[in-house]
Formats: sequence, C-alpha cells, structure tokens
Amino acid sequence: MPNVLITRELLAKNQGMADELYLSIVGHVFNVTAGRRFYGGNTGYAFFAGRDATRAFATGNFEDQDLVEEFRGLSKEQCKAIESWLAFYIAHESYHLIGYLEGSMYFHSNGTETSAMSEFRECAAPSPAQLNHAAVVDQ
Ligand code: HEM
Repeated sequence: MPNVLITRELLAKNQGMADELYLSIVGHVFNVTAGRRFYGGNTGYAFFAGRDATRAFATGNFEDQDLVEEFRGLSKEQCKAIESWLAFYIAHESYHLIGYLEGSMYFHSNGTETSAMSEFRECAAPSPAQLNHAAVVDQ
C-alpha cells in the first residue's frame, strides 16, 4: 500500500514555470523536473505536467477531453501502452516516483487502491489467447 499521498493541489502547482515539475499516470506521481525540455513552460508535452492525463498517454489526443484519469473504454492494447509509459517513468534514471495521487480514480484518500486500479491491471494484462501463443512460441 502506498505510504506517500500527493494531493491534486500539490500536483497542480508543479507545472509550467514552477521549480519542480510533477506528472501523474495511473495515479503514480513522478517528479519529472529533469525533463523540463518536454514538460516545462510552453514545451510540447507541457500538458502532462500538473495533472493525471492517463488517457492521453494511450490515445495521443492531447485535447481536454482526453487529458483525464479515465482509462475505461480503451482497448487492451491502449491499456498496455499506458502501462508501458508507467514503466518508462519508473525505470527512468532521472525521474522519481514521489507518491500516489490521493482521491483519484486509482487511489482512495486513505491510499488504498480503488477497484478501477484492478480493472486497469486487468485491461493491461495479457489475454488468455496471448498467453497460449507465448507458450507455443517458447517451445
Ligand atoms: C500516443 C502518442 C504519444 C505520446 C503519449 C507521446 C508522449 C511523449 C512523452 C511523454 C515524451 C517525453 C518523454 C521523456 O520524458 O523523455 C515524448 C517525447 C517525444 N515525442 Fe512523443 N508521444 C506521442 C506521439 C509522438 C509522435 C506521433 C511523435 C512524432 C511525430 C512524437 C515525437 C516525440 C519526440 C521527438 C520526443 C522527444 C524525444 C527525445 O528528445 O528524447 N511523439 N513523447
């Protein structure tokens, strides 16, 4: 269970010209200050800073309607794309996971995971058909 909770207000402060830049994906909040050339000021991906725009990581639609936490309605491939971006931020040597977005689609205010988080994992998980395929290929 996550032990550091980040409020939406704190997340929202850390964007644009702020000293530190934060972004959230699937409720995981990262300090991405090292990526100021992507996320700061008027740069190309500035819309990812200061919020959780999980859906846009899959759709590539960077308009308000997709700059939202909501993943439901996306395909498995799109959920996997989101999971890959999450893995990218976790593995990145200069970005740091600083906590979890409190009271979001993915984490309750007390830090426990929501049922939507389980649904997301299910959406991103391989389908049984893909598992069978992997088993055949492995032989
Ligand atoms: C679903 C669609 C897309 C998403 C979610 C996305 C997201 C991102 C993100 C988050 C970064 C910053 C990565 C970092 O922190 O290092 C990035 C970098 C970049 N993206 Fe995209 N992108 C998308 C599509 C595209 C497309 C279609 C192009 C090209 C036409 C493109 C070109 C680039 C370039 C050139 C960089 C900078 C790479 C670098 O200098 O290291 N992206 N993208």
